[in-house]
Amino acid sequence: MRGHDLFRFAAVVACVLCYTTIILGGNVITTGNGLACPDWPSCFGNGNYLPAFSGGAAVEWSHRVAAFVLSVSVLLLTFLGVAFERGRRALLRLSIVSLALVVAEALLGGLVIETSLLAGVVLVHLALATALFGVLLILALLANLREMPRRWVDWARKAAEEEPVRSKVPGMTPAPGPNPARPTDRPVAMSAPREG
Ligand code: HEM
Repeated sequence: MRGHDLFRFAAVVACVLCYTTIILGGNVITTGNGLACPDWPSCFGNGNYLPAFSGGAAVEWSHRVAAFVLSVSVLLLTFLGVAFERGRRALLRLSIVSLALVVAEALLGGLVIETSLLAGVVLVHLALATALFGVLLILALLANLREMPRRWVDWARKAAEEEPVRSKVPGMTPAPGPNPARPTDRPVAMSAPREG
């Protein structure tokens, strides 16, 4: 496997792990098990990192374990980015941003518990989780763009290039007509061979 292939695979894995962690976090909150492990980073003190996997502790601990696996996967993704994607700055930057977000999110998870589920802290925890997922999703899409099926790329391009319907409401600015500066708006010679 080439370095770039490893990176794009790691990006998809991190994205899926983030989604899983978010769902497990939602499970913690909806089942009211936020304080089933009342301390952090261990569960019931004394360096207990393997609590009995039952009841509320199982719900809370599964979220923490998922968060840990996610953090390791994002760390690995950033290493791969530094090693293989220095030529593609956007990918490298996004992987560094995702690492910063996951570290902040894990620390904030600890704060959620230390503050006994203070609403503001829980909300920031949710906000960072969704931001992290957004960054990882964009990263996974961009890293895999070259290998995506042609029809998906065509679909995205078509969605980006379609013009809004011209408004007939008085006072509303009509959508601009064709822009000769944009390659897609230039008239195409009928005899020109189609690409692809
Ligand atoms: C690092 C990645 C993490 C992500 C993406 C994440 C995401 C989430 C999400 C989406 C929720 C549900 C919030 C809501 O529905 O409003 C949640 C809840 C929660 N998370 Fe995390 N979390 C992470 C790490 C952690 C860690 C490391 C801990 C603890 C050490 C933690 C502790 C909690 C707790 C206690 C709740 C429930 C809060 C409550 O019951 O009010 N999280 N998390």
